[in-house]
Amino acid sequence: MISKRAQNISPSETLKITGRAKQLAREGVSVISLSAGEPDFKTPSHICNAAIEAITDGFHGYTMNTGMPELRETVCNKLERDNRLKFEPSQIVLSNGAKQSIGFSLLATVDEGDEVLIPAPYWVSYPEMVKMAGGTPVVVKTEFVNDYKLTPGQLKDALNKKTKAIILCSPSNPTGSCYTREELEDLASVLKNYPDVIIFSDEIYEYIVFDDEHVSILNAAPQLKDRTVIVNGFSKGFAMTGWRLGYIAGPQSIVDAVAKIQSQETSAPSSISQKAGIAAYTGTMKPVEEMRKAFKKRRDFIVDELRSIDGVQCFMPSGAFYVFPDVHVFLGKRTPEGDTISTTTDLSLYLLEKHGVATVPGDAFGEPGGIRISYAVSMEELKEAVARIKDGLSSLS
Ligand SMILES: Cc1ncc(COP(=O)(O)O)c(C=O)c1O
Repeated sequence: MISKRAQNISPSETLKITGRAKQLAREGVSVISLSAGEPDFKTPSHICNAAIEAITDGFHGYTMNTGMPELRETVCNKLERDNRLKFEPSQIVLSNGAKQSIGFSLLATVDEGDEVLIPAPYWVSYPEMVKMAGGTPVVVKTEFVNDYKLTPGQLKDALNKKTKAIILCSPSNPTGSCYTREELEDLASVLKNYPDVIIFSDEIYEYIVFDDEHVSILNAAPQLKDRTVIVNGFSKGFAMTGWRLGYIAGPQSIVDAVAKIQSQETSAPSSISQKAGIAAYTGTMKPVEEMRKAFKKRRDFIVDELRSIDGVQCFMPSGAFYVFPDVHVFLGKRTPEGDTISTTTDLSLYLLEKHGVATVPGDAFGEPGGIRISYAVSMEELKEAVARIKDGLSSLS
């Protein structure tokens, strides 16, 4: 009854762990969830007010399938203001979240048998979306010593005649790493020799950077513009995960193909969310800055704490709201109950079931030596969660 396509897809591991954590909480177990991929803040009030106004004004109809012209123009203005990138409104397609933007972009470009390079650790949805598009995900392993960033050598080794595209994510989910301008220039100089390879640049965490300013691949390598699709959205920077609003900015031919697919699959994103999106990009950025500062404090805290645990290695991530410590030394150890921790999935489940803290195993992201810890929780919860993690890890022998 079920198609091969659907059978071939794995459900999201992140959602699985979050689901189990919620179930335990419903049963009355005290669980702190460090597994979710969403800010713990409310959407800023000026954005909510724009949506309320849209509702009371009766702005209830379908919009243009690529998004309201006013929002497409607003996105172009934002790309110029924040990223110094020039796009025409016709080169923007608004979707129901960046996830859909990536999915439709892959459907629009990838054919059966095409390879798509995905540096690991990767965001869980990339390989599955490539498979749904009929392509073959090619996972490229990166190293902890390079903060899990792809090197030019690793890229060169992975590229071949079948490579159709590469998906880059900076700031990264799950590692929080951000590519510098020089690193992106170096990757671009390798891509120069493969002029047909499309670059999908997922920049959804761009407003959550702590050290330097966000660098888009198109800032470092403007010559790639005719084959780069920038993916972005409102979920993370403005705490708008439930509003479902994202977009692509890219070459006209890809944008037109995505628009065509979207017109048959989902029409346009919600008219109310689009009004909210206009308010987000034209209104004050103060709440975004406040969230960024709060994330930075928590990052500094959690990295210090994790580094103080025997056996845990942790680099300082420069963006997003995740840390991705290396915990491979705990694999092979035993729990007080006598169970062996063979994988990071075992480790995450042990921390959840026995110590009430939910993390996501590195296995889900294609990196079996790490775990992802989201610090999108209050400082109080974070302190308690760290104490539980310390307790859990030190009980292993
Ligand atoms: C790297 C990355 N890209 C895209 C998305 C999807 O975002 P959206 O809520 O806009 O669909 C997420 C959400 O977790 C993400 O972490």
